[in-house]
Amino acid sequence: MNSLGKLYGVGIGPGDTELLTIKAVNVLNSVEVIFTPRAAPTRDSIARKIIEPVLDNKKKIKELTFPMTKQKEELEYYWAEAASEVENVLKEGKNAAFVTLGDPFLYSTFIYLYRKIRERNPLVEIVTLPGISSIFASASAAGIPIASGSEKVAIIPLSRDVNQIKPYLDMFDTIFILKVGDKLQDLVDLLSRLELADKSVLVQKVSQAGLQRVIRNLPELREDELREVGYLSTVIVKKA
Ligand SMILES: C[S@@+](CC[C@H](N)C(=O)[O-])C[C@H]1O[C@@H](n2cnc3c(N)ncnc32)[C@H](O)[C@@H]1O
Repeated sequence: MNSLGKLYGVGIGPGDTELLTIKAVNVLNSVEVIFTPRAAPTRDSIARKIIEPVLDNKKKIKELTFPMTKQKEELEYYWAEAASEVENVLKEGKNAAFVTLGDPFLYSTFIYLYRKIRERNPLVEIVTLPGISSIFASASAAGIPIASGSEKVAIIPLSRDVNQIKPYLDMFDTIFILKVGDKLQDLVDLLSRLELADKSVLVQKVSQAGLQRVIRNLPELREDELREVGYLSTVIVKKA
C-alpha cells in the first residue's frame, strides 16, 4: 500500500475568487496543507488572496518562494527546496495542494515542481486540476472571440528580442502575447510598424478586484504608462 500522501496541482484562475472551480474549492478544503507560490518572502501572495475567502481553515497555508530570476542554478536550488518541503508533507501521509494562478500546466511554477517530484519520487500520485487561464479571462474581458471556424490561435511568451514574434503574427489569426513586462514599449513599436496596433488590446491584472485594465489605444500611452501596465499583462492581437 502506498502510504504517501497525494499531491494536487490546483489551477485557481487569474484573480477573482468566483472563478475558482467547485472542484478546486473542495480539494483545497480537503487537503492537510496548501502550498502557495510567491516571488519573494516580502511580497504579498496573489494566490493567497484568491483562495482565502473559500478556505475553512487558513492555518494550513504554507508559502514557497520562487524568485523571479533566470539564473538556472538559483532556480534549480529553489525548485529542489520546494520539492523537499512538499515531499516532507507527503511522506507523513498527508495530502497537499500546490496552487497556481490560471492553469497549472500553462507556463506555471507547478510544472517544475511536478517534474522534480516525479523525477525524485515516481510513486507520488499527482493530480492536476485545470484552472481558468488568464488567456481565457483576458479574451472575455476584452470582448475578443478567441477563434471561430478555421481561425488559428498562438500563445507566445515575449522574449527580449520582440522581433522574434513576427512569424507568429503573420501565421495566426489570434495571438496571445504573455510575459510582456518591460518589453511593452518595444512590442507596441513593432505592432505599430506592422499596422497591427489598432488590432491589439492589452489586459492587465484580469479579474483582480479594482485592478483590471483593458487598454485599446496602446500607441497613445506615455512611456511611463507603458512601463507600468506591462506587469501581469496579456496582449491580444486579433487580425480579423
Ligand atoms: C508565468 S505565466 C502564468 C500563466 C498562468 N498559468 C495562466 O494560465 O494564466 C504569467 C503570464 O501570464 C499572463 N497573466 C497571468 N495572470 C494574468 C492576469 N491576471 N491578467 C493578465 N495576464 C495575466 C501574463 O502575460 C503573465 O506574464
